Amino acid sequence: MKVKSRFDRTFDRELLQEIKEKLDQGLLPQWLQTDPDIYELEVKHIFSRTWQFLGHESELKQPGDYVTRWMVNDPVLLVKTNSGEIKAFLNSCTHRGTHLCTADFGNKKTFTCPFHGWSFNLDGKLIGIVAGNKVYGEAMDKEEWSLRPIPRVEVYEGLIFGNLDPQAMPLQEYLGGLKWYWDIFLKRSDGGMEVRGMPQRWIVNTNWKCTLENFGGDPYHVPSVHKSTVEMGISPSDPLYSSYGHQVVLEHGHCVNVNVASPGAKQTPYQGLPEEMWPMFERNLTKEQLEIFYKTTVIVGSCFPNLSFHCPIHGSEGHLHNYLTLRVWRPLGPEKIEIWSWFLIDKAAPEELKENAYKGYISSFGPSGTLEMDDTEIWARVVQASKGTMARDRHLSYNNLYNYMMGMGKVEPDTSWPGPGTAYPTCYVDFAFRGIHKYWLELLSQGVE
Ligand code: FES
Ligand SMILES: [Fe+2]
Repeated sequence: MKVKSRFDRTFDRELLQEIKEKLDQGLLPQWLQTDPDIYELEVKHIFSRTWQFLGHESELKQPGDYVTRWMVNDPVLLVKTNSGEIKAFLNSCTHRGTHLCTADFGNKKTFTCPFHGWSFNLDGKLIGIVAGNKVYGEAMDKEEWSLRPIPRVEVYEGLIFGNLDPQAMPLQEYLGGLKWYWDIFLKRSDGGMEVRGMPQRWIVNTNWKCTLENFGGDPYHVPSVHKSTVEMGISPSDPLYSSYGHQVVLEHGHCVNVNVASPGAKQTPYQGLPEEMWPMFERNLTKEQLEIFYKTTVIVGSCFPNLSFHCPIHGSEGHLHNYLTLRVWRPLGPEKIEIWSWFLIDKAAPEELKENAYKGYISSFGPSGTLEMDDTEIWARVVQASKGTMARDRHLSYNNLYNYMMGMGKVEPDTSWPGPGTAYPTCYVDFAFRGIHKYWLELLSQGVE
């Protein structure tokens, strides 16, 4: 007789129901981080249906400017056409499928495939075939062999997103209340934000959910993981310093943490941005957004499934800098991600501020930044520990459950909060985590019998 082992996990409704019940209690199985079967379901039912960030409009200024990107395993070519439109194609030649464009970015009039030399124009049309009529004859209709467009491409305030599902809900509807918080940095200045440099990329041995959570709802880790910054005098020594403010839970697994200065500490209005920019903020934002922005030190959060954002105020070399970094956590498997990190700053900011803020970013959250290094090590260890025999036991028990109980039954929403979503009056709570996993489970369940 075949005995079902403790490690047999069939993703049936029964098991998902069990996970749901645990989640309602603030518990989640440790193995869901890296389980290979779960990963397959995620690629199929989450990444093929949700909106994923591809780039920023300011990366493509002139006709012919292009960048190459990824949506998990689908290579993407983003290009600005002669009419100024941004198009996204599968970066795979329609002849035999190799990558059409191999550079990270550049400017071209046409794209010529390195394999057999077919060439395509900026609109994706096939315009040249090596030996054309001699080998394919008249029967070959070039019109039928254009590049394959990414099914959906939509833009919000300069942020370009793609979706592999032609039936997906519109981007703006998907973002929902998150837009209101994004507008605090995307819309505050005339001309919005612009990307400086190219996105930096590096690989970390962790799972995409771990990083999504970290930016989405974990200010609780800051005083411990980033203790060195406390020791250097960059961060305050009060262990509650990253708790002050609000954690906001939004629809579709999105979440935001809006931090403020410790009680009694000196205020730095509008994240330390120069006073000459303030009238612009006051013109471009609503009264409610200004009220929040004035006091904010850090806005950090996640847009489900794999985009995070961080708009902090950081000290380095005796200066305080504000900037925006966007992060894509591109899964390369259950235990590996490629991090893509963009630096953005107000287009209307003085040039000197842009340069100083860029240095501030590089020294804190670039791949060699002090804070970045701390996180990377911890994320890798989370994943390693999720593969152990005890952690992988199918039966959900004390031995293999994570604790997501912070704030449950203790912290009530702040009904006076002026922004959308459910806002809790501290960031040391796990409501954002549970929001992420609730939506994760909802999408995953749709693919399970
Ligand atoms: S694969 Fe591109 S021309 Fe053959
Ligand atoms: Fe961190």
